[in-house]
Amino acid sequence: MNAEHPYSKFYLRTLRERQSIVAETTDLTPEERQLLLNGGGLQLDLADLMSENVIGTFGLPFALAVNFVIDGTPRVLPFVTEEASVVAAASKAAKLSEGFTTDVDEPIMIGQLQIVKCRDPEQSLQSLLDNKVELLRELLNSDLPLKAFGGGPRDLHGEVLETERGRMIVLHLLVDVRDAMGANAINTILETFAPQVQKIIDGEVRLRILSNLSTYRIARAKTVWRRETLGAETIDGVLDAYAFAQASPYRAVTHNKGVMNGIDAVALATGNDFRALEACAHAYACLVNDGKYRSLTEFSTDDQGDLCGRIEVPLGVGTVGGSTRINPMARLALKILGVRSSRELAGIMASAGLAQNFAALLSLATEGIQRGHMRLHSKSIALMAGAIGEEIEKISLRMIQEDKISLHNAENFLALLRRMSGEPGE
Ligand code: MEV
Repeated sequence: MNAEHPYSKFYLRTLRERQSIVAETTDLTPEERQLLLNGGGLQLDLADLMSENVIGTFGLPFALAVNFVIDGTPRVLPFVTEEASVVAAASKAAKLSEGFTTDVDEPIMIGQLQIVKCRDPEQSLQSLLDNKVELLRELLNSDLPLKAFGGGPRDLHGEVLETERGRMIVLHLLVDVRDAMGANAINTILETFAPQVQKIIDGEVRLRILSNLSTYRIARAKTVWRRETLGAETIDGVLDAYAFAQASPYRAVTHNKGVMNGIDAVALATGNDFRALEACAHAYACLVNDGKYRSLTEFSTDDQGDLCGRIEVPLGVGTVGGSTRINPMARLALKILGVRSSRELAGIMASAGLAQNFAALLSLATEGIQRGHMRLHSKSIALMAGAIGEEIEKISLRMIQEDKISLHNAENFLALLRRMSGEPGE
C-alpha cells in the first residue's frame, strides 16, 4: 500500500479518525456510522431473541487489521479480540508479505445419521447404498433449505462402526451449503432424510446431526516474505520455530493457538461459530498427520532464499444466516470486508491465520513477544491500576519510556501523578 492510502499509518490515528476513515472508504450508511459511534453492540431486545435468560450484552474491541492484499485485492479485516498485540501483529505480517493467494474448496458439509439395532448392519448399509440415487432424488424433491440458493444434498457415504455398544451404521450425507455455515440447514435436511432411510432398514435412526469436522471445506492460503525484507537470520529463526512445532505437540498447540488468534478474530467479527472452527481445526491438525498433532501452517524457503508460508485449514463459515445477519456489527464487518461468498470469507480467514502465525514466530524467534506485547498492553495495565481519563495515556507513556511495564509500576506512577496534581485518590 502506498503512503496516500487511507489506511496507511492507521494505528497513529485517533479512534474517531479511524471511524471516519472506515465510514468513508466503505460507504457506511448514517445508521452504520452511528453504530460505530455508539460503541456498536447489540440491542437488548435482539440479544434476548438470540439466547436464553439474557440480562445484558458483553462488549469486545472491534478493530481492523490492515495492509492485507488477498488474491490481488487490498482488504481491511475486522478483528474482534480481547488480546492486545493480535491486530498489530497481523497488520505487520501482512505489510511485510508479498500478498496472499487463496484456494478454497466447494462448501460441502457432512451430516451424520447414526443407525443402531440393525440385525445385519452390512446388509442394511448395502441396501441403503444400492438405493442411493433414489434416496437422493426423493430428498432433492422435498422442501429443503438452501434449495433456492442452489445448495442441497449431493452424495451419500456410509460405513459400519464397531463400538462399545455393538455395531452401528453411520451415514454421511454430503450437502452443498453455499454461503451458509450450514448447521441449521443440515440438521433440518437430516430430519427430512431420516424417515426415508428408516423405510429401508430394520434398525433405528438415532442421531441426526451435522459433523463439525468439515474436511470437504478446506481453505488454503499462501504467501512469500522476501529474504531482503526479513534477513536470512530471521528466516532461519522462523524455520527453526516451525520445526519445533512439527516435532513437539506441546509447542504445536500454542503455535496453532496463534493461528486461531487470527481466524477466530474474523469469525467473531462476522458472527461465525468460533467453537466449531476451533474443534475442527485441532482435529484436522491430527487427522492430516496420521493422528499426530502438527502445525496447521508450513514454512520453507524457495530458490531465492525467500520464506514461503502456507496454511491449510477446514473453515465451515457463512456469510448468510444466523448471527451473521442478526447482529448489526457482524453485518457491518461483512460490509467492511466486502465479501461476496462464504468461500471468499474462508480464504480471507485462512490468510489472517497464516499472517498471525508468522507474526508470532517472527517475534518469538527474534526479540520475544513480551516486550512488544507489554507496550501494546500498557494502557490496559494503567486502566487496571485505576487510572482514568488522561492519566491512562500518561501512565502508559511513562512505563514505556522507563521500560517498566507492570501493574505494580502503574500503581506507583499513578499514586505519584495524583500526589503531584494534588489529588487525594490513591
Ligand atoms: C498468544 O496468544 C499466541 C502465541 O503464543 C502463539 C505462538 O506462541 O506461536 C504468541
